[in-house]
Amino acid sequence: MNFVPIGYVRSNAVARKDCGELESVIEVLPEFEEGLYSIEQERELIILYIFHMSEGIALKVHPKGNPKNPLRGVFATRSPDRPNHIGMTAVTLLRRQGNLLYVKGLDALDGSPVIDIKPAVRMDQRPISQK
Ligand SMILES: C[S@@+](CC[C@H](N)C(=O)[O-])C[C@H]1O[C@@H](n2cnc3c(N)ncnc32)[C@H](O)[C@@H]1O
Repeated sequence: MNFVPIGYVRSNAVARKDCGELESVIEVLPEFEEGLYSIEQERELIILYIFHMSEGIALKVHPKGNPKNPLRGVFATRSPDRPNHIGMTAVTLLRRQGNLLYVKGLDALDGSPVIDIKPAVRMDQRPISQK
């Protein structure tokens, strides 16, 4: 498996608490810009990125990094310290300017490499059922 970054996150978020509702920019590399053709027609996008600042891999974690939260398997959480360091977030596309996508709701830190962008479809948004 060989993944290459298609772009990078530009965000003022420097810590977990800053992420989320901020407006961020995804700077798509020029060689991939053609792949953005007609993306303005979409409102909700899925962004796949790399947790490049992760401190490692842990198979059991305290959710939200809080030791008061009971340990859970990493695949039962959204922890950045996972084996393949892949993050996934649904964002709202605010506007596009050339190779720049202005988005809202991206919880990725500045400099996060982006490995894919795709429109959110109804299938992604099915209601989450309770156990
Ligand atoms: C709980 S994770 C969830 C990320 C994504 N929505 C997901 O579910 O895969 C979000 C947190 O990851 C951390 N984070 C974001 N980008 C990161 C990066 N590039 N490296 C390490 N940690 C990062 C931030 O602290 C952020 O609040």
